[in-house]
Amino acid sequence: MSNTPGVLKKAKRLRSTLLEDPSTIDKPWVAVKDPFLRISYWLTWGIAFLGIAGSAIRCYFGYKSVLMLDGNLCPVLDEEFNTDTDTVFGTNSNWFREVELGGYGNGEFEMTTSSSNNSYVQNGYLYLTPTLTADEIGQSNVMNGYTYNLTDCTYNVTNPATLPGSSTASATGTTFDATAYYQSCGAVSNSTSGTIINPVQSARISTRNSASIRYGKVEVRAKLPRGDWLWPAIWMLPVNNTYGAWPLSGEIDIMESRGNGRTYPGQGINYVRGSLNWGPLPFLNAVAKTFGWWTQRRTDYGEGFHTYTLEWDSSFLRIYTDSRLNYMLDLNFNEPFFSRGDFPTVVENGTAPIVLTNPWVNGTNATPFDQPFYLIINLAVGSTNGWFPDNMGDKPWLDGSSDAMKNFALAQDQWYPTWGSDGEEKSLVVDYVKMWQLC
Ligand SMILES: *[C@@H]1O[C@H](CO)[C@@H](O)[C@H](O)[C@H]1NC(C)=O
Ligand SMILES: *[C@@H]1O[C@H](CO)[C@@H](O)[C@H](O)[C@H]1NC(C)=O
Ligand SMILES: *[C@@H]1O[C@H](CO)[C@@H](O)[C@H](O)[C@H]1NC(C)=O
Ligand SMILES: *[C@@H]1O[C@H](CO)[C@@H](O)[C@H](O)[C@H]1NC(C)=O
Ligand SMILES: *[C@@H]1O[C@H](CO)[C@@H](O)[C@H](O)[C@H]1NC(C)=O
Ligand SMILES: *[C@@H]1O[C@H](CO)[C@@H](O)[C@H](O)[C@H]1NC(C)=O
Ligand SMILES: *[C@@H]1O[C@H](CO)[C@@H](O)[C@H](O)[C@H]1NC(C)=O
Repeated sequence: MSNTPGVLKKAKRLRSTLLEDPSTIDKPWVAVKDPFLRISYWLTWGIAFLGIAGSAIRCYFGYKSVLMLDGNLCPVLDEEFNTDTDTVFGTNSNWFREVELGGYGNGEFEMTTSSSNNSYVQNGYLYLTPTLTADEIGQSNVMNGYTYNLTDCTYNVTNPATLPGSSTASATGTTFDATAYYQSCGAVSNSTSGTIINPVQSARISTRNSASIRYGKVEVRAKLPRGDWLWPAIWMLPVNNTYGAWPLSGEIDIMESRGNGRTYPGQGINYVRGSLNWGPLPFLNAVAKTFGWWTQRRTDYGEGFHTYTLEWDSSFLRIYTDSRLNYMLDLNFNEPFFSRGDFPTVVENGTAPIVLTNPWVNGTNATPFDQPFYLIINLAVGSTNGWFPDNMGDKPWLDGSSDAMKNFALAQDQWYPTWGSDGEEKSLVVDYVKMWQLC
């Protein structure tokens, strides 16, 4: 190692450039504060705070404004379908199978049966399953030369007031409507006249003899059927038609859907709809003022089970799926239904013009939805009432055509394959049904 002691290399002096000009040194503590900076500081934080406080208040009042059932809920029906078909549909059970083939006022194409082929219980679930009438009587009989009579038709049971000898019939002089009876209970296929036997058999069950509520809650957990032109519904009708025949006494539709695929332009199986039907005359149903729907973006209602709920009292009615946030209808009874309907003052009823008067004038804002309603669960197929709009999704029939049902039947090769092959997909599957009365 070599070293040179005593000799220090002269260091180069580093000069501060800062010290050269003191005026360039930052001295924030002596600076006069910019008042605008201070204002903008407080303004920013102030506004942010106001925003947060405001939205908290909004949330609070939003939360408080959600009307909730005011009272206790007393159980009316708790059906888990944990027994077997014979028990669920046995005498004095909760469920009544409605058997008719007249289209239920909607021009529906199915006949509803009491057969365990179309309504049955399996593994704790209720199944409503559509089958082909041809499987029972053969395709040629469906199309021509056959008379089908529903031996267990329930028209008389569901229209008791029209029966000869009933107290209502004698009191009001009502006569038995033989035409309506025969149209609901029997059909003839005739290729010359173009009539056929309803090509599909399905089911419609109700609690009309066992359970109804006037205000309360209904909850149904179900998986919807998949397949073109299938129309499942969970809905309610009035027990006693207090204000007159449909739609004077109202109808509550908790869930309706269409089995058509997600690409169907008229809202397919990724949509469910809730609505109220009401009006002073059959052709003045104001359902368009009280309906709504919920939709799934990446899946659909045939993929799994969802809960469909009705909450209803004298001040509001709400229909939702799974959560109150997913509401299809949230109606405050803050206005009488007659003014809500915005009906014309003079209408043509048949051939006679009549001045329309409020049929619910002696009621409340809830009228006609202030009477006991019972529950119906059904699986319809097609219809001519517009539920499936014409010219949408290759619909094989026109609603106005007298050959509608026949054209639907002739297109079986198009729609039947979409119903799946195992019976599961085309079925409306119900896990449970619960009803509570507000008490
Ligand atoms: C179920 O359908 C088959 C035809 O597919 C028929 O033979 C049978 O009788 C039906 N069962 C009932 C209970 O109606
Ligand atoms: C329904 O009532 C009519 C009139 O009383 C009667 O002729 C008919 O047989 C009844 N039908 C059934 C299925 O009970
Ligand atoms: C069977 O139904 C047809 C069509 O509705 C009807 O004309 C006929 O009278 C019915 N037969 C019986 C026995 O009810
Ligand atoms: C079929 O309909 C035609 C035309 O409406 C009618 O003339 C004929 O009698 C009907 N056939 C039967 C078996 O009812
Ligand atoms: C419906 O009317 C009948 C006959 O007036 C009556 O006995 C029954 O209690 C009423 N049902 C309901 C649910 O109001
Ligand atoms: C409309 O006409 C039908 C059939 O004539 C009648 O039963 C009904 O009472 C009429 N409705 C009104 C509001 O006048
Ligand atoms: C309303 O009540 C009055 C008086 O009781 C009665 O005259 C009228 O017919 C009722 N109107 C309706 C539509 O029920």
